[in-house]
Amino acid sequence: MANVIVVGAQFGDEGKAKVTDLLSKNADVVVRYQGGSNAGHTVVVDGETYKFHLIPSGILYSGTMCILGPGMVIDPKAFISELDALKKRGLDDSKLKVSATAHVTMPYHLAIDAAEEDSRGGRKIGTTKRGIGPTYADKCDRIGIRIEDLLDPDALLGKLEWLVPKKNIILERLYNLPQQSVDAIFKEYIEYGRKMQRYVCDTSAIIFESVHERKNILFEGAQGTLLDLDHGSYPYVTSSSPCAGGACIGAGVGPTIIDRVIGVSKAFQTRVGEGPFPTEQFDEVGERLRQTGTPWAEVGVTTGRPRRCGWFDAVLGRYAVRINGLDCLAITKLDVLDEFDEIQVCVAYKDRKTGDVYNDLPSMAGAFWRMEPIYETFQGWKKQTVDCRSYSDLPAGAQRYLDFISEQLHVPVALVSVGPKRDQTIVIEDPIHGPKRVLSYSNLQAPVTRSAK
Ligand code: GDP
Ligand code: IMO
Ligand code: MG
Repeated sequence: MANVIVVGAQFGDEGKAKVTDLLSKNADVVVRYQGGSNAGHTVVVDGETYKFHLIPSGILYSGTMCILGPGMVIDPKAFISELDALKKRGLDDSKLKVSATAHVTMPYHLAIDAAEEDSRGGRKIGTTKRGIGPTYADKCDRIGIRIEDLLDPDALLGKLEWLVPKKNIILERLYNLPQQSVDAIFKEYIEYGRKMQRYVCDTSAIIFESVHERKNILFEGAQGTLLDLDHGSYPYVTSSSPCAGGACIGAGVGPTIIDRVIGVSKAFQTRVGEGPFPTEQFDEVGERLRQTGTPWAEVGVTTGRPRRCGWFDAVLGRYAVRINGLDCLAITKLDVLDEFDEIQVCVAYKDRKTGDVYNDLPSMAGAFWRMEPIYETFQGWKKQTVDCRSYSDLPAGAQRYLDFISEQLHVPVALVSVGPKRDQTIVIEDPIHGPKRVLSYSNLQAPVTRSAK
């Protein structure tokens, strides 16, 4: 029995779904705990590609219970169309559960997200326009609509009659957009409730029972550490808590049941949307990182936007280890680096303004933007890794690269992915039952060297 959190250790799109899919083989329950249809999770099985947005990727294993937890925000229209498409492909929904208390993304959330982005000019976040921020904002404002409301016509109508006129003032006066109709929304959303009813329940109670039946529970993170509302590159973040701590709140379990936290990172770094990205490469290196691995090129699964690409950032990696309490790492897309002559890893930052050098992310306001990477350079291994199935199969240069990442982040690399398919994976050590390491690194946030001023 082990209860495991899989969390993105970078800016999202780390390949979490591939890792979740591998680990789901031995899971009884897979739980999404935050986010909504902003997520785009790709799994490749037997030559078939599946792209999940709301539904846990554990659904690929029939018999595995899949839960959309209370910390999620669910667009029912997107949920129903994703589920219908999966059912058409023969997937089994008999063990799919949706939390009654998850919040609902409404049409006004979608309209406000898009309008707000368009109005921001230079302060744009680059959201996925899936209504995520406005839905979580209403939740915090205690005016949100929850899944349970879709099953109760009186409750839903009462809330809509109160809320929609308020939202119409915002839509019309602030953004010059058409008003939305209580009647039309009510009819559409009560119908969604009817379709979703069979999945809706108290999912926290199910997880609690599963814990006591000593089942294996996998918590599937969406987004990533640097997109976390509290710990990410604020304000260029999402509106939920992708970090490991968010799994407990978002699923409704106590931290005492968690056995293991696995961080997923690419062997390099990507980001979709705006915000600081110290190791971003704007020249042909960035373009090669984006295009290599085609047809699995770096394009956002949800929005189709090209991902910004750059070198692996060990400073942010150490930060992810600290914020999530990572036990080990799964490194994905190693194969993308196969043909590079030289590969760089950012090991520290230099403050462009003060010249101070840091080995952890300094917490001063705006500091992230001023950080210039200090790189360690590796000779490329210039050999294909896609067919490697063990650590010893890997070229010596690739082994050195992985060992270096592990040393820099102070955690073992347990899994290495060398292609999108299930079998294109190397297990270095058991990611779930491996030994517990004590994290130790000091001088956090203090400059390692100060410039002579
Ligand atoms: P997630 O959001 O973290 O689940 O990741 P995405 O699905 O958005 O993006 C990861 C992309 O990389 C997907 O297209 C995967 O199929 C692909 N992928 C995962 N692991 C590997 C790998 O080791 N090598 C290559 N070339 N592609 C991979
Ligand atoms: P997965 O689960 C990568 C980014 C958006 C934007 C910011 C806020 O596939 O890793 P939002 O729509 O959430 O308000 O957008 O967060 N973003 C993601 N980037 N992967 C994701 O999910 C993301 N979900 C949101 O691009 O910068
Ligand atoms: Mg993704």
